[in-house]
Amino acid sequence: MNPILTISHLNKTFESGFQALKDINLSIERGEIFALLGQNGAGKTTLISIICGIVNATSGTVSVAGKDIAHHYRDARSLIGLVPQELYTDSFESVWNTVSFSRGLFGKPPNPALIEKILKELSLWDKRDNKIITLSGGMKRRLMIAKALSHEPQLLFLDEPTAGVDVSLRKDMWQLVKALQTAGTTIILTTHYIEEAEEMADRIGIIRNGELILVDEKLALMKKLGKKELTLQLAGPLDAIPAELNIPELSLSANRLELKYTFESSGEGMGAADVLHKLSTHGIVFKDLQTRQSTLEDIFVDLVNAGGKETSAALAPTATTGEDHHAA
Ligand SMILES: Nc1ncnc2c1ncn2[C@@H]1O[C@H](COP(=O)(O)OP(=O)(O)OP(=O)(O)O)[C@@H](O)[C@H]1O
Ligand SMILES: [Mg+2]
Repeated sequence: MNPILTISHLNKTFESGFQALKDINLSIERGEIFALLGQNGAGKTTLISIICGIVNATSGTVSVAGKDIAHHYRDARSLIGLVPQELYTDSFESVWNTVSFSRGLFGKPPNPALIEKILKELSLWDKRDNKIITLSGGMKRRLMIAKALSHEPQLLFLDEPTAGVDVSLRKDMWQLVKALQTAGTTIILTTHYIEEAEEMADRIGIIRNGELILVDEKLALMKKLGKKELTLQLAGPLDAIPAELNIPELSLSANRLELKYTFESSGEGMGAADVLHKLSTHGIVFKDLQTRQSTLEDIFVDLVNAGGKETSAALAPTATTGEDHHAA
């Protein structure tokens, strides 16, 4: 493998004595979309700031495409595009000039055709002559992305790219990020919209109190830690679950009108269809059913609350039948 980013034994203690990052080790492959998730203050921006040379590490090393950021800063930095979390966009400069100037900062020769392409892709072409200060918040965020792309980075950091961006624009951004990936850019993003990571990321890293507590393929993570739950509304009250059913994961509600069956998303053990079949052969009749599957958000909340222990996640609804919606 030939990682684009290698972080090893990285620590950061601020002057205040606060340790924001603790022994971070991470390798990012070319072409992947990696989502870094963590609560407010977990250390996401600090980590990105160190990689981009804005904050100095206390110890440890970072290299981009094999170039150590401490020893080959300019080479390493020219491979990186950064869309920062905080927007500094009170400028009276035009959109076109701002993005063109950004490219020049990295020593790249002017390339008007490229700047035009970027502005069109980000739906900023109509605004190219506007002063930055006249743009809306969502447009400013897109401008920051245009700036970050202006020098054709191989590795793009998006720190909360869709904070304050409306739902339809957020979906446009997801498409753009995927298109960048297809074009060969490696992307690392942070987000508080977990469904954004669920939608886009190939791998997920979870950072908690400065520690990277988990790094895994998204699908593997959801399979490993996700759960499914089947809920049945019975046609009439059931005195007890017949012992001969022999399904220990089956439980009866206090009002004896609802049965719940929880099972692993990994598909091991009995599936919903088997349970339904068994129930019907024992004459148990139901009038409605729902299935729910844990989302990445459930898994994330469980992980950050559990102090990093791998536990199965709570459940969120994915499917329902009939008129009754018993969503949690
Ligand atoms: N210059 C600084 N001096 C002291 N502490 C700092 C400094 N910058 C950040 N911190 C602290 O480091 C921790 C991590 O901050 P960071 O901005 O990396 O969090 P984050 O994960 O990006 O959070 P958010 O989701 O809110 O953006 C926080 O506790 C923060 O208060
Ligand atoms: Mg942050």
